Amino acid sequence: MSGLLRHGDVLAPALPATKAPGITDSGNSKGRNSTMNRKKIILAVVAIALAIQAIPYGRNHTNPPVVREPAWDSPTTRELARRACFDCHSNESVWPWYSKIAPTSWLVAFDVYEGRKELNFSDWRDGAREGEQARKIMKEVNSGDMPPLQYRLVHPEAKLDPAARKRLSEGLGATANKINHN
Ligand code: HEC
Repeated sequence: MSGLLRHGDVLAPALPATKAPGITDSGNSKGRNSTMNRKKIILAVVAIALAIQAIPYGRNHTNPPVVREPAWDSPTTRELARRACFDCHSNESVWPWYSKIAPTSWLVAFDVYEGRKELNFSDWRDGAREGEQARKIMKEVNSGDMPPLQYRLVHPEAKLDPAARKRLSEGLGATANKINHN
């Protein structure tokens, strides 16, 4: 008898007090809540991702006709520029799959729309555009600011080693200094 009582004293109050009401119950309801919260968050993210597809900015993927290219100083300069600059500074942009899905579509479109305004190798205006001046182009290439970092990350072919960078800078400088009357 005394043996049983001692058993009960130790085990019976100990189990319900610590495990049943305290940890097990609230633990379960917390688990349910966090699963529901996670589902709600996922649904909200999906809803937002779908909703932003309706925003029209960045849908225009037209490549207008090539009007006039500069008088390239050499085919190599043109080839390097095609590799590293044409997607944003020509009318021969390649529009990748992520340019068709918001929000990356906005970033790509911004680069192409703004890039073409500054400098367009398919619509060369002999220095009339801000970015067509030899000094400016060479500065952008030499400093490594162009092509921009976010572009280089997804376009390894546009990364220029130091020799190619020098070659492109000098070639574009020579090209921009020519007055083109094609
Ligand atoms: C990912 C798109 C992209 C690529 C690729 C790119 N550019 Fe640009 N470039 C831009 C944008 C956007 C602007 C306008 C905003 C700015 O100045 O940052 C610009 C501006 C410029 C300007 C004008 C800068 C000024 O201060 O007026 C020059 C010059 C230029 N780019 C040269 C180049 C050259 C040369 C290459 C290739 C080596 C190149 N860019 C590649 C997007 C690009």
